[in-house]
Amino acid sequence: MTTAKRIVLSSDHAAIDLRQAIAAHISAKGFEVEDIGPTTTESTHYPKHGEAAARKIAAGEADLGIILCGTGQGIMMAANKVPGIRCGVCMDTFSARMIREHNNAQMLSLGARVVGDALALDIVDAFLSAEFEGGRHGTRVDMITAIEAQG
Ligand code: RB5
Repeated sequence: MTTAKRIVLSSDHAAIDLRQAIAAHISAKGFEVEDIGPTTTESTHYPKHGEAAARKIAAGEADLGIILCGTGQGIMMAANKVPGIRCGVCMDTFSARMIREHNNAQMLSLGARVVGDALALDIVDAFLSAEFEGGRHGTRVDMITAIEAQG
């Protein structure tokens, strides 16, 4: 693991247990965790939870984010609508490492109904231990940002 970072977590109702398991897992590794819920399994709407976590990162209140819903897809789409946010859904550890190293993603999205808990924790570890490589990858990430700037 690299230097401790502030990690924001959020999910919808489909991923409460896995989100809390991830919070405990990364807290034990020394990360500073802000789990912004929700805490009950009452049905809720994933866009607001994805947005809330993404806004924390956009505001500089967290360094990286981990968000979850049933598939990881809907909450990822919502997070990516916040300007400056790059979030990828990962179901394997290679992709989780690459979205940091090549895409400088600040957010990882997981599908609690897709991946098992043990794999999810490995994916989280891969994401949090990787660093952006910059260089040619920086040029490409800047191109993503330029697309966003065009509206
Ligand atoms: C909720 O039933 C489900 O639609 C949500 O968790 C997520 O999978 C959406 O992308």
